[in-house]
Amino acid sequence: MKTLVTYVSNTGNTRRVAEAIFGEVPGEKEFGELSGIESLEAYDLIFIGFPINAGGPNPAAKEFIENNVAGKTVAVFTTHGAPEDHEDVAGWLAACREAASEADLLGLFDCQGEVDQAIIDFLLKADDPKLRAFGEAGASGEGKGQPDESRIERAREFAREVIAKAGD
Ligand SMILES: Cc1cc2nc3c(=O)[nH]c(=O)nc-3n(C[C@H](O)[C@H](O)[C@H](O)COP(=O)(O)O)c2cc1C
Repeated sequence: MKTLVTYVSNTGNTRRVAEAIFGEVPGEKEFGELSGIESLEAYDLIFIGFPINAGGPNPAAKEFIENNVAGKTVAVFTTHGAPEDHEDVAGWLAACREAASEADLLGLFDCQGEVDQAIIDFLLKADDPKLRAFGEAGASGEGKGQPDESRIERAREFAREVIAKAGD
Protein backbone atom coordinates (compact mmCIF):
# COMPACT_ATOMS: atom_id res chain seq x y z
CA MET A 1 0.00 0.00 0.00
CA LYS A 2 1.29 3.46 -0.90
CA THR A 3 0.18 6.43 1.20
CA LEU A 4 0.38 10.18 0.52
CA VAL A 5 0.16 12.83 3.23
CA THR A 6 -0.38 16.22 1.60
CA TYR A 7 -1.36 19.59 2.99
CA VAL A 8 -1.91 23.32 2.57
CA SER A 9 -0.52 25.37 5.47
CA ASN A 10 -0.06 29.12 5.55
CA THR A 11 1.38 29.47 9.05
CA GLY A 12 2.61 25.94 9.88
CA ASN A 13 -0.22 24.56 12.07
CA THR A 14 -1.69 22.14 9.55
CA ARG A 15 1.83 21.13 8.53
CA ARG A 16 2.57 20.08 12.15
CA VAL A 17 -0.54 17.90 12.13
CA ALA A 18 0.50 16.50 8.73
CA GLU A 19 3.94 15.59 10.10
CA ALA A 20 2.38 13.79 13.08
CA ILE A 21 0.10 11.81 10.76
CA PHE A 22 3.00 10.99 8.42
CA GLY A 23 4.98 9.64 11.37
CA GLU A 24 2.30 6.99 11.94
CA VAL A 25 2.17 5.74 8.35
CA PRO A 26 3.87 2.37 7.79
CA GLY A 27 5.29 1.17 4.47
CA GLU A 28 5.68 3.10 1.28
CA LYS A 29 4.78 6.78 1.78
CA GLU A 30 5.25 10.31 0.49
CA PHE A 31 4.86 13.73 2.10
CA GLY A 32 4.42 17.10 0.41
CA GLU A 33 2.57 20.33 -0.10
CA LEU A 34 -0.66 20.03 -2.06
CA SER A 35 0.56 22.62 -4.59
CA GLY A 36 3.23 20.12 -5.71
CA ILE A 37 0.84 17.20 -6.25
CA GLU A 38 -0.08 16.52 -9.86
CA SER A 39 -1.93 13.25 -9.60
CA LEU A 40 -3.26 10.93 -6.92
CA GLU A 41 -3.13 7.91 -9.19
CA ALA A 42 -0.15 6.24 -7.53
CA TYR A 43 -1.66 6.25 -4.03
CA ASP A 44 -3.93 3.77 -2.25
CA LEU A 45 -4.57 6.07 0.74
CA ILE A 46 -4.41 9.87 0.76
CA PHE A 47 -4.45 12.15 3.80
CA ILE A 48 -5.29 15.74 2.78
CA GLY A 49 -5.06 18.64 5.24
CA PHE A 50 -5.74 22.38 5.10
CA PRO A 51 -6.78 25.30 7.31
CA ILE A 52 -10.25 26.77 7.62
CA ASN A 53 -10.10 30.15 5.92
CA ALA A 54 -12.92 32.70 6.05
CA GLY A 55 -15.58 30.26 7.20
CA GLY A 56 -14.79 27.27 5.00
CA PRO A 57 -12.11 24.90 3.73
CA ASN A 58 -9.06 26.68 2.26
CA PRO A 59 -10.24 27.41 -1.31
CA ALA A 60 -7.26 25.83 -3.13
CA ALA A 61 -7.61 22.64 -1.10
CA LYS A 62 -11.37 22.56 -1.58
CA GLU A 63 -11.00 22.88 -5.34
CA PHE A 64 -8.29 20.20 -5.47
CA ILE A 65 -10.40 17.79 -3.43
CA GLU A 66 -13.54 18.38 -5.48
CA ASN A 67 -11.65 17.70 -8.71
CA ASN A 68 -9.31 14.85 -7.77
CA VAL A 69 -10.59 12.45 -5.13
CA ALA A 70 -13.50 10.70 -6.85
CA GLY A 71 -13.20 6.98 -6.14
CA LYS A 72 -10.04 7.40 -4.01
CA THR A 73 -9.58 6.34 -0.40
CA VAL A 74 -9.12 9.55 1.52
CA ALA A 75 -8.87 11.01 5.03
CA VAL A 76 -9.21 14.74 5.63
CA PHE A 77 -7.70 16.85 8.43
CA THR A 78 -8.13 20.54 9.13
CA THR A 79 -7.09 23.19 11.65
CA HIS A 80 -9.04 26.30 12.62
CA GLY A 81 -8.49 29.24 14.93
CA ALA A 82 -11.74 28.70 16.83
CA PRO A 83 -11.82 26.14 19.65
CA GLU A 84 -13.14 22.70 18.68
CA ASP A 85 -16.46 23.26 20.51
CA HIS A 86 -17.23 26.54 18.73
CA GLU A 87 -20.73 26.54 17.22
CA ASP A 88 -19.43 27.18 13.67
CA VAL A 89 -17.10 24.17 13.56
CA ALA A 90 -19.80 21.61 12.65
CA GLY A 91 -20.68 23.62 9.52
CA TRP A 92 -17.02 23.87 8.47
CA LEU A 93 -16.60 20.11 8.89
CA ALA A 94 -19.78 19.49 6.89
CA ALA A 95 -18.24 21.57 4.06
CA CYS A 96 -15.08 19.43 4.25
CA ARG A 97 -17.15 16.23 3.98
CA GLU A 98 -19.15 17.70 1.12
CA ALA A 99 -15.97 18.55 -0.83
CA ALA A 100 -14.87 14.90 -0.49
CA SER A 101 -18.29 13.40 -1.15
CA GLU A 102 -17.09 11.50 -4.24
CA ALA A 103 -14.30 9.81 -2.28
CA ASP A 104 -14.31 6.87 0.09
CA LEU A 105 -13.78 9.11 3.14
CA LEU A 106 -12.26 7.06 5.98
CA GLY A 107 -12.05 9.87 8.52
CA LEU A 108 -12.17 13.58 9.27
CA PHE A 109 -9.97 15.21 11.92
CA ASP A 110 -10.00 18.78 13.16
CA CYS A 111 -8.24 20.76 15.85
CA GLN A 112 -7.56 24.31 16.92
CA GLY A 113 -4.53 26.09 15.48
CA GLU A 114 -3.03 29.37 16.71
CA VAL A 115 -4.11 32.37 14.64
CA ASP A 116 -1.30 34.42 13.17
CA GLN A 117 -0.86 37.90 14.72
CA ALA A 118 -1.38 39.64 11.37
CA ILE A 119 -4.80 37.98 11.08
CA ILE A 120 -5.70 38.92 14.66
CA ASP A 121 -4.80 42.58 13.89
CA PHE A 122 -6.95 42.44 10.75
CA LEU A 123 -9.93 40.86 12.56
CA LEU A 124 -9.80 43.45 15.36
CA LYS A 125 -10.50 46.15 12.76
CA ALA A 126 -13.35 44.27 11.00
CA ASP A 127 -16.85 45.76 10.79
CA ASP A 128 -18.52 42.39 11.42
CA PRO A 129 -18.86 41.94 15.22
CA LYS A 130 -18.39 38.18 14.86
CA LEU A 131 -15.01 38.67 13.16
CA ARG A 132 -14.03 41.26 15.79
CA ALA A 133 -14.93 38.73 18.51
CA PHE A 134 -12.56 36.20 16.87
CA GLY A 135 -9.87 38.90 16.86
CA GLU A 136 -10.47 39.69 20.53
CA ALA A 137 -10.30 35.99 21.45
CA GLY A 138 -6.98 35.71 19.62
CA ALA A 139 -5.63 38.92 21.16
CA SER A 140 -6.47 37.59 24.65
CA GLY A 141 -4.17 34.63 24.00
CA GLU A 142 -6.86 32.04 23.22
CA GLY A 143 -5.46 29.35 20.97
CA LYS A 144 -1.85 30.36 21.62
CA GLY A 145 0.52 27.43 21.07
CA GLN A 146 -2.10 25.27 19.32
CA PRO A 147 -1.96 22.57 18.13
CA ASP A 148 -0.46 21.48 21.45
CA GLU A 149 0.88 18.02 22.26
CA SER A 150 -2.56 16.66 23.23
CA ARG A 151 -3.96 17.67 19.84
CA ILE A 152 -0.94 16.27 18.03
CA GLU A 153 -1.47 13.00 19.90
CA ARG A 154 -5.13 13.01 18.80
CA ALA A 155 -3.90 13.47 15.22
CA ARG A 156 -1.62 10.43 15.63
CA GLU A 157 -4.57 8.39 16.93
CA PHE A 158 -6.68 9.54 13.99
CA ALA A 159 -3.93 8.40 11.61
CA ARG A 160 -3.72 4.97 13.25
CA GLU A 161 -7.51 4.53 13.05
CA VAL A 162 -7.61 5.50 9.37
CA ILE A 163 -4.69 3.21 8.53
CA ALA A 164 -6.42 0.29 10.32
CA LYS A 165 -9.63 0.98 8.35
CA ALA A 166 -7.71 1.19 5.05
CA GLY A 167 -6.17 -2.21 5.75
CA ASP A 168 -9.55 -3.89 6.36
C1 LIG B 1 -7.13 34.35 5.76
C2 LIG B 1 -7.44 33.54 6.99
C3 LIG B 1 -8.77 33.27 7.30
C4 LIG B 1 -9.08 32.52 8.44
N1 LIG B 1 -10.39 32.24 8.71
C5 LIG B 1 -10.71 31.47 9.79
C6 LIG B 1 -12.06 31.14 10.09
O1 LIG B 1 -12.99 31.49 9.37
N2 LIG B 1 -12.31 30.41 11.20
C7 LIG B 1 -11.32 29.98 12.03
O2 LIG B 1 -11.60 29.31 13.03
N3 LIG B 1 -10.01 30.27 11.76
C8 LIG B 1 -9.69 30.99 10.68
N4 LIG B 1 -8.39 31.28 10.40
C9 LIG B 1 -7.35 30.75 11.30
C10 LIG B 1 -6.71 29.48 10.73
O3 LIG B 1 -7.69 28.57 10.26
C11 LIG B 1 -5.88 28.76 11.80
O4 LIG B 1 -4.95 29.63 12.41
C12 LIG B 1 -5.17 27.56 11.19
O5 LIG B 1 -4.65 26.73 12.20
C13 LIG B 1 -4.06 27.99 10.26
O6 LIG B 1 -3.44 26.87 9.73
P1 LIG B 1 -2.06 26.95 8.97
O7 LIG B 1 -1.04 27.44 9.99
O8 LIG B 1 -1.80 25.57 8.55
O9 LIG B 1 -2.22 27.92 7.86
C14 LIG B 1 -8.05 32.04 9.29
C15 LIG B 1 -6.72 32.31 8.95
C16 LIG B 1 -6.41 33.04 7.82
C17 LIG B 1 -4.97 33.29 7.48
